[in-house]
Amino acid sequence: MLSVRRRGFFALFPAAAILLLFLVTYLREGVVTVPKLSGRLGGLPSGDEEPTFWARLPVHYPPSHIRPLPTGKPVRYPRVQAATFPVEKDPDARARRRERRAIVRDVFHKAWLSYRELAWGADELAPLSGGTKNPFGGWGATLVDALDTLWIMNLRPEFDEAVARAATINFTSTDLPELNVFETNIRYLGGFLSAYDLSGDGRLLRKAVEVGDMLYKAFDTPNRMPIARWDLHAAARGAEQVAGKALLAEVATLSMEFTRLSMLTGDPKWFDAVQRVADAMAAQQDSTALPGLWPLEVDGKTAVFNSGSVFALGAMADSAYEYLPKMAALTGGRLPVYRRMYEKAVDAAVKHNIFRPLTPADEDILIAGNAHAKEHGIELEPQGQHLACFWGGMMALAARLFGRDEDMEPARKLVEGCIWTYRAFPHGVMAEAFTMAPCPAGAVAGDDECRWDEAAWKREVLRRAGKDPDAAGSDAEADAIIKKDRLPEGFTSISDRAYVLRPEAIESIFVLYRVTGREDLPEAAWDMFTAIDRVTSTELANAAVRDVTTPETPEQKDSMESFWLAETLKYFYLIFSDPELISLDEYVFNTEAHPFLRPLK
Ligand SMILES: *[C@@H]1O[C@H](CO)[C@@H](O)[C@H](O)[C@H]1NC(C)=O
Repeated sequence: MLSVRRRGFFALFPAAAILLLFLVTYLREGVVTVPKLSGRLGGLPSGDEEPTFWARLPVHYPPSHIRPLPTGKPVRYPRVQAATFPVEKDPDARARRRERRAIVRDVFHKAWLSYRELAWGADELAPLSGGTKNPFGGWGATLVDALDTLWIMNLRPEFDEAVARAATINFTSTDLPELNVFETNIRYLGGFLSAYDLSGDGRLLRKAVEVGDMLYKAFDTPNRMPIARWDLHAAARGAEQVAGKALLAEVATLSMEFTRLSMLTGDPKWFDAVQRVADAMAAQQDSTALPGLWPLEVDGKTAVFNSGSVFALGAMADSAYEYLPKMAALTGGRLPVYRRMYEKAVDAAVKHNIFRPLTPADEDILIAGNAHAKEHGIELEPQGQHLACFWGGMMALAARLFGRDEDMEPARKLVEGCIWTYRAFPHGVMAEAFTMAPCPAGAVAGDDECRWDEAAWKREVLRRAGKDPDAAGSDAEADAIIKKDRLPEGFTSISDRAYVLRPEAIESIFVLYRVTGREDLPEAAWDMFTAIDRVTSTELANAAVRDVTTPETPEQKDSMESFWLAETLKYFYLIFSDPELISLDEYVFNTEAHPFLRPLK
């Protein structure tokens, strides 16, 4: 996502409670069936459906031809999920994970009921005041974003009620002057598509077509490049439009949703639209200042994707990379360009962006940082971001799909880097963005070359603060900065101290768990969940917090973005579920945690 994300129920009667909990969760699990719908055509809008408002508008720059969806047999990808899950074989561990799953579901349900009562149909519930917020068109971002979580958590009456409400959303009217095409795509279009893939309810596909037709209008430009921040009112009046400057993630994170919509409707226009962006990316990938990666800012008007010197893996770039292997999975490998682009990107990122930090106990972990192209070469900026925590999961998934076994080691260390970072902060919750002291010998250096060195850490703290590490009295000055800025050991600055209910860390723990079956990962997830819930829980729901570095309880903000219900709680729920629930061999998640069916044959 762009910045551009306990209760003791039965304390009185523990034995009866455990038995009851066991029965309830067991029975509940027995009925959680997710229908397999690949190839099923039921519920499609029939051909005599009225074209939507957005599809009826005159087109200024029709594409010269529409590329059809690729056909042919899909690639037989290797199995993604682990063959065995030790947790599932141990009755105690199974009971524990069921109990935890029920607690995650209760946290979700509480927030959902508050949203339903106080903010029904609004984009967000304000979780402290009980007010509403409408940053995403006022069409009910939380409602649509959470549909598939309701289904997955087997909250069927709530799901049915939400679908009936979502079916009435009017996507031709909004108070917003300008629409964020990226956010509208991943939350609304992604939300409708996956709720449809799971439930087969045709009303959801019709809404997906409405949103898809609206967003498709943002591609009606002379070179068919999309507009990222889009004046939809001017477009609705029939004005001509051109694409402008955009963030990489904004234009490169439309591919999965548009392609899935084409696959489900049989209309290739959406696939054709995003494939033009992919063509431009592929053509320019080797000619950037850091070949393999694309700069943060791209120019839609000229379709230039290779000018710029900042190369990040987190904010503003993130899902552009995430969608490369996921497009391969979604299309059954029928478009080899996505795998090629991914392999070049990951090789460059491992070489230039991913670093090993110095930590007090010499942890063998990795952090996904930024790279800057300078005259003298590529320079690492040892920044960590919560947003970049998806890299470990993405690399583990792609390592399995593409047989890149050598990527499993960095994938694991990246996931462990995020787990470690959560634990390094006083409340067990990671800050949005920070820098660390990198191991001077590089990311692949052996343990002997990356020993904790307090003096080296303090020098880095001083350098970050713009001070001379060799000046007299610098040691005392470093101590003063560390104290004032509340820097845990190893950290050299914290540029954003908030935690805003983001999912990327649990997302990667979940994926690595499904890929490896490692028993310690649900335990790490549980620590993370309890730490997050402890600081974010409000009377109504959960709230972002301003500063996770304060010794006292962090102050809460009146904000709960829709990804808390769409992503964070979904991944927590799934890691404590039967590993066959939304198997990674059947589904691939969009960047908003919406699972789309993969082609199986
Ligand atoms: C949707 O909103 C537009 C603009 O306000 C209005 O003209 C149209 O009738 C509405 N459609 C429905 C189905 O309510």
